[in-house]
Order: sequence, then C-alpha cells, then structure tokens
Amino acid sequence: MLMKLELTGVQKSFHQTPALLPTDLTLEHGKFTTLLGPSGCGKTTLLRIIAGLEQPDAGEIRADGEYIYSAAKRMDTPTHKRNLGMVFQDFALWPHMTVYENVAFGLKAGKRKSDLQQQVNEALGMVRLQGMEDRYPHQLSGGQQQRVAFARAVAVKPGVILFDEPLSALDAVLREEMRIEMMSLVRDMGLTALYVTHDQIEAMSMSDEIVVMQKGRILQKGTPETIYSAPSDPYVASFIGKSNWLSPDASMVRPEHVTWNKTGHDDLGYLGSILSVSYVGERYEVRVQMEGLGVWTAYANQRVRVGERVQLYVLPERICRMQGQQQKVGSSKPDQQHDMNQSSGRKQREVVAAAH
Ligand SMILES: Nc1ncnc2c1ncn2[C@@H]1O[C@H](COP(=O)(O)OP(=O)(O)OP(=O)(O)O)[C@@H](O)[C@H]1O
Ligand SMILES: [Mg+2]
Repeated sequence: MLMKLELTGVQKSFHQTPALLPTDLTLEHGKFTTLLGPSGCGKTTLLRIIAGLEQPDAGEIRADGEYIYSAAKRMDTPTHKRNLGMVFQDFALWPHMTVYENVAFGLKAGKRKSDLQQQVNEALGMVRLQGMEDRYPHQLSGGQQQRVAFARAVAVKPGVILFDEPLSALDAVLREEMRIEMMSLVRDMGLTALYVTHDQIEAMSMSDEIVVMQKGRILQKGTPETIYSAPSDPYVASFIGKSNWLSPDASMVRPEHVTWNKTGHDDLGYLGSILSVSYVGERYEVRVQMEGLGVWTAYANQRVRVGERVQLYVLPERICRMQGQQQKVGSSKPDQQHDMNQSSGRKQREVVAAAH
C-alpha cells in the first residue's frame, strides 16, 4: 500500500510570521526523502501539515491523486484517515503501557482486532524485540525504545511513514547503528518515507532524495550526490559539505578537488597561507587563508607547516557554479529558536490519531 504524496502551494504562517512559504513537493512511491535544514526552517511544520496535525493556510495535498487537503475545496482528511505512521524524536511511548500494549494500541484504535496478536508480534519481530513484550518503556534502552516507536508506527501498515528527528535523543554510536537499521527496515518494507533531520550526514547516508530547506522554503531537491556535487544555491553548498568559494555566493570547489600541485595544463592557481592543520586519521585537513578569497579547506597526505605560503590548484571543470540563485526572504525569522514545546502527551495522542 505504497503512497505517492503531492503538495502544491502549501503554506503556513504563525501570528503573521511565515513558517512555510508556498511549497510544492512530491514524494514518490517507495522513496526515502529527507527534509534537511537548520533549526526553525519549517521542517516540522511541513511534516505536521502532511500528517494533518497542522492546517495550512493555503494549498493542496494529494495522496495517490486523491485530495487529503484542499483549502479551495474545503477538504481536510483527518489524521487518522491519512494512512500514515509517525516516529518522533522522543519516541512518545506510553509510559504506563508495556511494549506489547504500546504497539497494539494503534491497531486497537483502528478496530483491527482480528489477528491483533499476530500483527503486534510481526511488528516486534521486525525490530527484533521478541521476548520483551511485557517490559515497560523505562525498562528499555534508548535504542530499544526507538524500535518500539518504529514498530508501533509500522504495525498499522501505513502508506507513508513520517520521522521527525527520530535519532537525535540517542548517543553517536547507537545513532549510527539505528540509522542503518531504520533505513533497511523502511527499504525492506518498501515504505514511502519522509525523514526530518538537521544532520547532514544522516541525510546524505539514508536518503534517495534530499530536500534542503531554509527560511521556510525549499532551496533544492535532488539525490545526495546531486546536492553535494551540483548545489544550485550558495546556502546548499555551504550547508552540505565544505565549500571553497572562488567568487562569493557564485562559484565554489569542494576540498577534495583542490590539489597542491598542477595536474593539467589549464589548472587555475591560487595563493594562500596555511592557517591550521588537523590530522583526522586518513589525511590532514588544512585550512588555508587564500589571498582575496577567504578561507579554504584542502586535504593533504602529509603534514604541512602552519604559516607556509602555498599555491593551490583547481581544475576548471571541478568548479560548481550556482544557477538557481533565488531571492532571499526577509519577512520570516527562521533562525530564531522556536518556542514550540510540544509535550510528550500531545505527541502520544497524535501518534494514536495517526494510527487509525
Ligand atoms: N505552534 C507554533 N506557534 C508559533 N510559531 C510556530 C509554531 N510552530 C512553529 N512555529 C515557528 O515556525 C518556524 C518553523 O518551525 P519548525 O518547528 O517547523 O522548524 P524546524 O525546521 O522543525 O526546526 P528544528 O530543527 O529546530 O526542529 C519557527 O520559526 C517556529 O518558531
Ligand atoms: Mg523540528
């Protein structure tokens, strides 16, 4: 029961301040799409609008061609009929319910009582939590709690699964483990997924498509490879990976394409002096103050000397030029830390609402 989601002209303001500017976005069947952007750029707002937890001011949303929201047509399918699963940052498990009851809850609410036990077991089996049915959330590790939240979201067999920073409460090691696990589960189940994060490594490593957002709008949508190697906007170039600017906001080169020696006839040479050298295991990361160009990063195989004047080279074909320079939006205040402090209880209700 895969789902394709199409958003057109969806927008939302809070108290006259735009949180999401008119936005078009299509999520293809079975694709893993990530919304990536800094705090306050509108990721959660977009996710909650898709889930039906927030009503947009304008626009339309279609699921497999059918309207689930249309401001003009006055249509608004309630959350529990949108066929979605949700996983939140803080898991939003019911503390007074066992693992089994947490997973079963959504199924019960959806009146799918037939084979309830089998469906719960199936979901728990997928996340390797058999034998833990009778534990309470506080008797589980962070990773196990995250798996319960995932099992609960997929037990209802949703067409789309929405994740809002589901790994940010976990430590770095567990995070990487769970990242791989969640990604494989979503792929194995063939789910259409929308995943929110502000962690670029997470976005790059998990996604079929990345949607980079800033100040309430989408700057670029593309595969991780395209976003990295051909950013269409200076903000995208700076937010993902390291960028060495040749002309401000207009052209840049990635550090791995900066060389210490000429490699061809038409290499361009740039002068600078070494600011710092960091050994990171497989190489040295070198920051260089370039003459008239700001600070660049280059990679070296051996230690270089701080203060040394150097010439760095770039092949013209390695230069990325920004084409899609869009006008900046002045009215929103996206970089402010938002004060939306959702209580766990509210989210639990929302999870249940989504789970039929
Ligand atoms: N219920 C609300 N009332 C008022 N303002 C809100 C509300 N929800 C969100 N906002 C504002 O809308 C903007 C976008 O918020 P949103 O939560 O979508 O950001 P985000 O990209 O998810 O950020 P983060 O990475 O910090 O979670 C912010 O400026 C925020 O303060
Ligand atoms: Mg958020």
